[in-house]
Amino acid sequence: MRYTKALTLCLILLLALASACVSGTQPANNSAANGGPRTKKGPNDPIKIGFSMDTLKEERWQRDKDLFEKRAKEIGVQLNVQVANGSDSEQIKQAENMLTQGVDVLVVAPHNSEIAASIVESAHRQGVPVIAYDRLIKNADVDLYISHQVVKMGEMQAKYLLDHVNKKPANFVIVGGSPTDNNAILLHEGQMNILKPAVERGDVKIVADQYAKEWQASAALNIVENALTQSNNQVDAVVCSNDGTARGAVQALDAQGLTGKVLVSGQDADLASLRLIVEGKQTMTVYKSLQPLAYGAMDAAVKLARGEKVETTETIDNGFKKVPAILLEPVAVDRNTLLSTVVKDGYRKLEEICAGLPPEKCPKE
Ligand code: BGC
Repeated sequence: MRYTKALTLCLILLLALASACVSGTQPANNSAANGGPRTKKGPNDPIKIGFSMDTLKEERWQRDKDLFEKRAKEIGVQLNVQVANGSDSEQIKQAENMLTQGVDVLVVAPHNSEIAASIVESAHRQGVPVIAYDRLIKNADVDLYISHQVVKMGEMQAKYLLDHVNKKPANFVIVGGSPTDNNAILLHEGQMNILKPAVERGDVKIVADQYAKEWQASAALNIVENALTQSNNQVDAVVCSNDGTARGAVQALDAQGLTGKVLVSGQDADLASLRLIVEGKQTMTVYKSLQPLAYGAMDAAVKLARGEKVETTETIDNGFKKVPAILLEPVAVDRNTLLSTVVKDGYRKLEEICAGLPPEKCPKE
């Protein structure tokens, strides 16, 4: 009898312990957006925003950072920017530090779209809303996602090359971005939306399709080099997912005297790639206007800190929920549209694009 009682007590204790452990590992369900920020800020209260960045490696990220800092000054927000240099553990540590310092909202451009879910959980445990910036955070209770239309960008890259290649069937190589970045997956989805039907029609043959680790140009160079070797240099188009990887592809093509003969896509309107476009070595890029992205994220962060509603345009399923999202329009840019897009927008000056290049190659204003 005594034994049974003791056993029952033990069992109850064990069950209580187990359930405490389980609930400790569950995603925090106290969505800051639903429950409100830790202390709702009034119109004159100072607001602290943390911006956790993966990298400054690609030119665009420095611009995002500069725009965040500029906007913070304009609207009198205290901004803390941390850059993890491609390390997940560093990004988690930096985010934890910003939370300890008492940021009201965390904006995260994740290095790894899955691993960054733990940042959202930590933030929410402290009632701090999280905005996923440019790259979605998967399987997490993200409050807002702000980016460009990434699937559409993949479609634009593949469609441009398909429309301009003059061979049937044409041999295509696909160079994806980092497989741990959700954008790389979405871009590939968009590229295949265009290329799969073309393969089925017999217009395209895909001779290689690989992701470039960490978006590295050297990885892209290897992928294209191997594809050239295996196909006996019979490659007609290389769908690269961003400008950094496009430059790796151009290097591999250059070594075989194939630049200008093989079409190459990109993304970001990097200065170095705009110059390659003028030279005819890269065919196109996708221009994403960064000012509305950065300012949009900052302004939304302030609203979340004040517990105000943020206007969104759609929702994106991240595996956990339908995340409210703002997705901006990307623009395809080639030699002919360079002036009416990136230059007209003030993103780049024509002089800096053309500096040192033969003047006859440069588009005329
Ligand atoms: C961004 C691109 C960038 C790439 C590498 C992507 O998530 O959308 O603009 O080139 O990451 O950093």
